[in-house]
Formats: sequence, C-alpha cells, structure tokens
Amino acid sequence: CTVLLLVTAGSLYANVQLSPPKKTTYGPLADEDRIFTNLYGRHDWRLKGALKRGDWYKTKEILLKGVDWILNEVKVSGLRGRGGAGFPTGMKWGFMNKPSDGRPKYLVVNADEGEPGTCKDREILRNDPHKLVEGCLIAGRAMGARAAYIYIRGEFYNESSNLQVAINEAYAAGLIGRNACGSGYDFDVFVMRGAGAYICGEETALIESLEGKQGKLGVFGCPTTVANVETVSVAPAICRRGGSWFLSFGRERNSGTKLFNISGHVNHPCTVEEEMSIPLKDLIERHAGGVRGGWDNLLAVIPGGSSTPLIPKKVCEEVLMDFDGLIQAQTGLGTAALIVMDKSTDIIRAIARLIEFYKHESCGQCTPCREGVDWMNKMMWRFVRGDARPAEIDMIWEISKQIEGHTICALGDGAAWPVQVNSSTVIINLHTNRIIKRIIGELWKQLSGKDLVYSLRFSILNLI
Ligand SMILES: Cc1cc2nc3c(=O)[nH]c(=O)nc-3n(C[C@H](O)[C@H](O)[C@H](O)COP(=O)(O)O)c2cc1C
Ligand code: SF4
Repeated sequence: CTVLLLVTAGSLYANVQLSPPKKTTYGPLADEDRIFTNLYGRHDWRLKGALKRGDWYKTKEILLKGVDWILNEVKVSGLRGRGGAGFPTGMKWGFMNKPSDGRPKYLVVNADEGEPGTCKDREILRNDPHKLVEGCLIAGRAMGARAAYIYIRGEFYNESSNLQVAINEAYAAGLIGRNACGSGYDFDVFVMRGAGAYICGEETALIESLEGKQGKLGVFGCPTTVANVETVSVAPAICRRGGSWFLSFGRERNSGTKLFNISGHVNHPCTVEEEMSIPLKDLIERHAGGVRGGWDNLLAVIPGGSSTPLIPKKVCEEVLMDFDGLIQAQTGLGTAALIVMDKSTDIIRAIARLIEFYKHESCGQCTPCREGVDWMNKMMWRFVRGDARPAEIDMIWEISKQIEGHTICALGDGAAWPVQVNSSTVIINLHTNRIIKRIIGELWKQLSGKDLVYSLRFSILNLI
C-alpha cells in the first residue's frame, strides 16, 4: 500500500513537473540575454566588430533551413511588430509566403521613426547596423523577397551613412547580393532617405514616398511587407537561439526582449533593452534613475510615444509594460517610448504642444483629421491662455470623438487621444479642473486686479 501511495504520489509529482510554473516577475534582463549588445555605441559597429558580437554567425545554415523553418521559429517566438501596432510578425510575414505570380516581392523596412519620444531604431541604425542588414536577409528569405528597401527618415544623416557602410561591407564580404552567404539566394538591400514627414512612417504613405510620390496613402504595384527596424533586427537572434528562447521572456502574448526609451522628467533619460512585461515603475527606477524629485513627484506618463493616452501616477504604480497590460490601462505600448512628467508639468500646455505637432503633420486627406485637429489645436491654446469658454471642454471631447475611428490612418486617433476627457481617470479630472481654474482665473483678472481680493479668489479656485 505504501509503495502504491508512493507510486501515485510520484506520478502526480511528475504531472506537476510537466507544466512549468508560470512566471510572475519580469526583468531585469540578464546581460547574456541581450540582443542589442552595442546599443550605446561603445564598440565597433562595422563588420569586424559585428562578427565578434556574433552577427552573421551561421547565417548560411539558417537560410538553407528554408522558408517554413524560419517562419515557424518567428511564429513560435510570439514576436509582435515593434513599430506600434503589435501585429503578430510570423503571421504577417507568412502572408507573403504564397506561390509567385511572376512579380518580384519586396521587404520594406520602416526606419522613419517620427513618433515623438521615440529614438530606439536610431540606436540600431547607428550602433548595430549589421543586425538590421542580416535581419533583412533572413526576413526577406522568409517572404521570398528579392530585395529590401530601408526607408530612413531624412534627418538621420549619420545613421543612414553608417547603415550604407554596413551594407557595402556586407556586399563586399558576399553576405548579401548574388548568392548571399553562399546560399544560392540572391538578395539586395537599398537605402532610401525620406524628407522628414511623420505621415511617411505610416506604411502605405511610406510606400508612396518610396515611389517618389507625395506621402499620402495609396497602393504599391508588387507584393510588399512593411516591417519596423527593431522587428527585423531581432529575427537573426530568434533563428539562432530559437523561437522558444525569445518566448521565455515576458507574459503570454507579450513575449520577448524590447527596447524602451525613457525621456522627460527622470534623472537619467536612456534607451534600454529589457524583458517585456517589466513593471513601468521598475523600468523608470532601475534604468532612468527615478523620477526627478522622487516617485511621489510623478504626475503622469505617456507610455508608448505621443500617440498613446497618458496615464496618471496611480496607474503607473502597478502597470506592466506590455501590449495587454497597457491596453487594460486604457492606453497602449505603441513604440514603448515613455515620456515622464513630474508635478511641475503644465499638462495643458504639454497636450497643446502635442496637438500642434499632429496639426502640422496631418497630410490633409481626410476632413475629420485636417479640420478637426486644427480646431482642437486652436482650442487647446485657448485653454493654455485661459481665454476659452467652459463649454469648450465638452466641445473638444466631442470633436476628438468625431476624429477617432473616422479617418483613413491612425494619425487621427493619435491626435484625438491626448485631449480626451475620461471621467474615470484621475488625470483627466485634474486636467479639467485645471482648465476651469485657468479660465476663471483669467476672467477674474479682467474683472479685478486688486490684491485685496486675491485670497478670496484663491479660495474659490481651490473649491472648483
Ligand atoms: C502616422 C503613423 C506613423 C507611423 N510611423 C512609424 C514609424 O516611424 N516607424 C514604424 O516602424 N512604424 C510606424 N508606423 C506604423 C506602420 O504603419 C506599420 O504598422 C509598421 O511599420 C509595421 O511594422 P511592424 O509590423 O514591424 O510593427 C506609423 C503609423 C502611423 C499611423
Ligand atoms: S488621418 Fe487622414 S488626413 Fe490625417 S494623416 Fe491620416 S490620412 Fe492624412
């Protein structure tokens, strides 16, 4: 009987061992798990240095394993696009894996990086360009693409120059071009410099611009897939270390390592590679030296570049930095670029400045974005000056709702979100109160400038 019990207990134990315990903590990332080992440009970015860091290692073998093997590793890894939308990469690249209709296929790499607060692709382009070039070859193979076009924003002069040097080195070493890496596969890589319009980061506008047209939305004549620099650059590591290695980081549906940018009111603004799903608070405290003046001095954070709604301190305490965690907090991971604002921030002015950016960058094709963003911009600056009418607080919310979801591309949504008044979040209540205070404050100033009434006015404002 004892033996039977032991056997039963043993088999139960064995069953428990079959499913490993779920991870409940995320980060810090160990150095040996970093993909971007020259993020800060401390080492040689050219081919010699890249080879030392393990780039181009057994690339020929990866290519020879074939399209299905590469696509499968990328699918297993759970990689989701790093350009903002977070679409599953394996599935997206797989759409191109169809019998050819005779037209060439292309991979277009999006190196436009125009989202305010975002500067992660830039570090890859200038400090680790061979990761991207090798990534183009592997991603291109997975799609059966003939060539990659890297569309890089015009302002990135040094980045495009380093990238071109890396491409030239790769051609000279037989790594790309005819019979790339001796695999029998021909693959070219071209760099195209844009002119610095934010809308050209949107994928169909990017293709139009690549074709020499104005950066408005349209279609391309050949099968094309657009992918972000970071998405493409992690493909070689996934193939070398295995999709399941990449999958072991972060939460389910949110896997991998990730580049984060942290800017604004922190002690040490930085770019860092971390485990996906790391708590926002850890990320700021561990890597950016904490909020200026301490955590309690935090007002709000924009977590994923300017197109994602800001979240108040209360939400920042707990939220995890991944796609699902931030959606649950009614915002988004976007480009994973955190803009930190402490209590000294004039939140109304900060939002007005963002709307001014969107107004400037709207391509003007659809009416809600072209006209609506212009109206919101004018209203926001009236709020800043204090010469708006209180009714405009509701009005700006209504305009933003008429823009959101009613435009051709997501620029309209990105412009609408920062101004939205959501009564369930503390920040927006605070924001509304501040607007009302400013309007009443200005009215009061016009009625009476006398010191005598100052304290009375102060008490009224604090009651609102
Ligand atoms: C207005 C706008 C600007 C964008 N800018 C960029 C950009 O600079 N870089 C980028 O990779 N994606 C940008 N995107 C997202 C792209 O349209 C596209 O989703 C992305 O490049 C796909 O790559 P991924 O699947 O690897 O994420 C932008 C989207 C919009 C609507
Ligand atoms: S939302 Fe419409 S007008 Fe605005 S940038 Fe996109 S396509 Fe252009």
